[in-house]
Amino acid sequence: MKFFVDTADIDAIAELNDLGMVDGVTTNPSLILKSGRDILEVTKEICDLVEGPVSAEVVALKSDEMIAEGRKLAEIADNITVKVPLTWDGLKTCKVLSSEGKKVNVTLCFSANQALLAAKAGATFISPFIGRLDDMNLDGMELIADIREIYDNYLFDTEILAASIRTVNHVSDAAKIGADVITAPPAVIKKLAEHPLTDKGLDAFMKDWEKTGQKIL
Ligand code: E4P
Repeated sequence: MKFFVDTADIDAIAELNDLGMVDGVTTNPSLILKSGRDILEVTKEICDLVEGPVSAEVVALKSDEMIAEGRKLAEIADNITVKVPLTWDGLKTCKVLSSEGKKVNVTLCFSANQALLAAKAGATFISPFIGRLDDMNLDGMELIADIREIYDNYLFDTEILAASIRTVNHVSDAAKIGADVITAPPAVIKKLAEHPLTDKGLDAFMKDWEKTGQKIL
């Protein structure tokens, strides 16, 4: 499973990238706002830092303008993935840009039928938003499972990018179902290493080690 980091925070990306935990990055207009940076500048910096795909989202709503924005974003670097919303204009943009050989991430997916359309439009990635479905008392993980089944039935090569990941359980559940990629905030990725029994065990080992009076270095 590939790990994408869902942020435009350069320091946070760099920290995880040094550990080999970053297979790609996803951004969106809200994350650009949070970064306080210019979209073109910060996206270029991320692309220089990370080898894998970096999703940058168009903000126009009509396909002609979306296509123009997508082409401009794609000029930032070779590893740009153009992110488009799951609307008819977004799907049209997806079809045009993917036919030009550009990677496209279709975002804001909340149903299996939407995912089916994105695959048919040539999407490289489909981004079902798990957390936002869970927020409405719906089962985000069921959507991942449905899309997995549909894509496998018809051998679509669109990758399932489980997005809006809020908890460590979202990560392991998406991995068990067979999502190709998860994108999660840096804090969630760092939390994957945590377990209370690890802390408890380490504490006991440290106390016993102190009693030995020995040193390694
Ligand atoms: C994905 O590409 C989105 O940027 C992101 O996962 C949305 O997450 P949120 O629902 O926590 O804002």
